[in-house]
Amino acid sequence: MNTKYDVITDPADPRLAEIGALLNSGGVAAIPTETVYGLAANALDPKAVEKIFAAKGRPADNPLIVHICDMAQWAPLVQEIPPAAKKLAKAFWPGPLTVILKKTPLVPDIVSGGLDTVAVRMPSHPIARAILKACGVPLAAPSANRSGKPSPTDGPSVLADMDGRIDAIVDAGPCSVGVESTVVSLVGAAPRVLRPGGVTPDMLEAVLGPVEIDDAVLHRLADGQAAASPGMKYKHYAPEAQVVILKGDFAAYRAFVEAHRREGTVALCFEEEAALLGVPAVTYGRAEDSASQAQRLFDALREVDAKGAKRVFARFPAQSGMGLAVLNRLVRAAAFRVIDLAAPPVRVFGLTGKTGAGKSTVAEKLRQRGWYIIDTDVLARRVVEPGSPTLAALTDAFGQSILLPDGTLDRKALVRAAVTQPNGVQTLNAITHPAIDDLVEDALLDAAAQGYKNALIDAAALLESPTRRRCDAIIVVTASEGTRLRRIMARDGLSEPVARERMKMQKKDDYYLSAADVVINNEPPFDLDAQLNDLEERYETV
Ligand code: TXA
Ligand code: MG
Repeated sequence: MNTKYDVITDPADPRLAEIGALLNSGGVAAIPTETVYGLAANALDPKAVEKIFAAKGRPADNPLIVHICDMAQWAPLVQEIPPAAKKLAKAFWPGPLTVILKKTPLVPDIVSGGLDTVAVRMPSHPIARAILKACGVPLAAPSANRSGKPSPTDGPSVLADMDGRIDAIVDAGPCSVGVESTVVSLVGAAPRVLRPGGVTPDMLEAVLGPVEIDDAVLHRLADGQAAASPGMKYKHYAPEAQVVILKGDFAAYRAFVEAHRREGTVALCFEEEAALLGVPAVTYGRAEDSASQAQRLFDALREVDAKGAKRVFARFPAQSGMGLAVLNRLVRAAAFRVIDLAAPPVRVFGLTGKTGAGKSTVAEKLRQRGWYIIDTDVLARRVVEPGSPTLAALTDAFGQSILLPDGTLDRKALVRAAVTQPNGVQTLNAITHPAIDDLVEDALLDAAAQGYKNALIDAAALLESPTRRRCDAIIVVTASEGTRLRRIMARDGLSEPVARERMKMQKKDDYYLSAADVVINNEPPFDLDAQLNDLEERYETV
């Protein structure tokens, strides 16, 4: 499909009549609004609305907002317009507010996502209003991004997501609000904000009295918990990079970014701060100015991808005015990862020991005690996935024979190649350990963002890997030779000679014991739980 792209800034431009006609006859066009660009189709024509879902890749249970240009278009869509709704319309329409009421059968099910309600808003953007007038029908219009991506706030961002997927794009320049409308439901006992936006809770309360803020605005829904607003349950607004929000003042933010910077780290900060940081920065508005932060946020999220960012450390938004709307978008872009820089840092323990000593048993028990467990075996498999730079470096060093026919790593062949090549084991470690360590750092950030007090890095090769420096204390698990032999034979189904061979390849006891801050003897009659109690007491981890 050929997507027509027009720059139109004059509401009297005759080309808007053509866009109106296109929409009236079942076409789909991206149009500017004061909040974000919308992907519009005739709301009363299910076939036209279907094209919106296809173009966005949007889940069918996520309902659309219906846009109108005058009050007369509202009444046929809803069963009743209660006094609270009239007050809201009078105060905030046209503008960035969406009101949910019970729908009439005129609204197709595909628009309401099967719900018995409909969300309606009257935009203020002159071009949007001109298009609504020209087409003469209400327009269903979600944000004009591919599902999951940041909403577009200018024409080129729409084009990047929608070129070839829709009939037309009208570019009227950047949006003034920058985040989507406030969504208020009036179908429950009290007015409830399902999505914060350009109209703040304070502004709503000035008109309506007390309003509720839905749980999902700032919190991740538990599995199986129903979303009042289906759009709130999906991962959303996310760039390709991993985003972590850092809550604290700028000095603490800068120190954290410095300590955790690596290739691909990008700061998402305020305008005044960019020059003060030692990493590439993308700015989203001015400090303490939430309207400017809202206006810039989505564009900034697209910019970090354009910079090739792998990890983004975002400043926590200002808390006045539209701050709730900004935070609501940003926590979703960050998959709810927020690190409170004022909280005590996560205590990091390394767990190591010889094969068969029972590291996994200890890790599992600490997991049950509420520790965050990082299993480096799992990470080691992740870093060598096909297409990864680590796998490419391994084949450069050891040749193509370490690959299976399907292109995945043949671990046995790799070990054989490493032990037969001079310095092969060092080469292997030099390639894999830093890559695993990067993932360990990601996991530690995740632990901090989830509010864990203790993290355990379970790593057989901890002492010779760069991950060792991350540990506040090292726990070594031991067991007698006989016990380890029995465990290895049972666990890996090995004969005694093979198991003994494997044990011989291990480092000596003293290698582990001299590095240990804590030794756990994992063998009867020693009581494992009592030793873990001592450990927790000693480090005050509970
Ligand atoms: O500012 C905006 O509202 C933009 C512009 C284009 O107008 N539109 C927009 O639409 O953000 P969309 O589809 O991206 O977001 C609509 C949100 C979703 O979270 C959806 O779940 C919710 O509103 N919603 C729509 N109808 C609803 C209903 N009947 N009940 C509950 N939530 C509803
Ligand atoms: Mg959207």
